[in-house]
Amino acid sequence: MEITDKQIKQFLENGFLLVENCLSENLVSELKREIDLMGEKDGPEFFREKSGAIRTIFAPEKFSETIKSLIGNKILVEPLRKLFNEPFYLFQSKFNDKKSLESGSWPWHQDFKFWKEDGMPEDKAITVAIYLTDVTNYSGPIICVPGSHKHGEISSKLNNPGGVHNEDLKYMISPETLSEVCRKSGGIVSTAAKAGSVLFFHCSLLHGSFQNMHYEDRKILMFTFNPISNKTVEVENPREEFMVKRDFTVI
Ligand code: SIN
Ligand code: MN
Repeated sequence: MEITDKQIKQFLENGFLLVENCLSENLVSELKREIDLMGEKDGPEFFREKSGAIRTIFAPEKFSETIKSLIGNKILVEPLRKLFNEPFYLFQSKFNDKKSLESGSWPWHQDFKFWKEDGMPEDKAITVAIYLTDVTNYSGPIICVPGSHKHGEISSKLNNPGGVHNEDLKYMISPETLSEVCRKSGGIVSTAAKAGSVLFFHCSLLHGSFQNMHYEDRKILMFTFNPISNKTVEVENPREEFMVKRDFTVI
């Protein structure tokens, strides 16, 4: 998929770029089918809601050739080549489910705050979020503050030191901080779009999502890419390989 200079400018300005209708209906259905089959499995990669519903599956490409082949797909790779302008590798992959009326939220955060602790030197990573279902304003879309990626690390409070992968995040920001960031940037926007759309977003973009109040599930596949020049360094307590990849093969 080609992205235009105007779209690159939008990404640099806003910290995200939503491209609608990128993936064919066939591919989206196939990916969804593979993901649904995966729900039967279990293992350390699988994180569930209290109800037992899937919240996240890390490294989903381990369980599906179709998902694996998506990583090198030009729909993702071509825009990334333009956005990075240097060689990059896959840093993290996950599937985030948001089951209708069951899923919890993702409080406001910047991904880089967490990835810095994984040894990422600078905030250069970009996440590609692939919508496998329609994402509406009622189904817990990713919401963000356009331009917030330009403000560096946004002040947050250590909330849950042992926090792993639930809504009680390790770091939380206050309403005062959110208000200040919104005043300096573009306010809050939703990234709701149809299935098959793709969202590119910067790792310092302030974002989150709320509970799915819709009657349909919200399903998003996410791949995070990082320039090789910014590859993670060794840290004292590294997270598991399925959460933080240390295979620096160029995509
Ligand atoms: C994330 O912040 O990476 C996940 C957000 C979501 O799935 O809504
Ligand atoms: Mn995030």
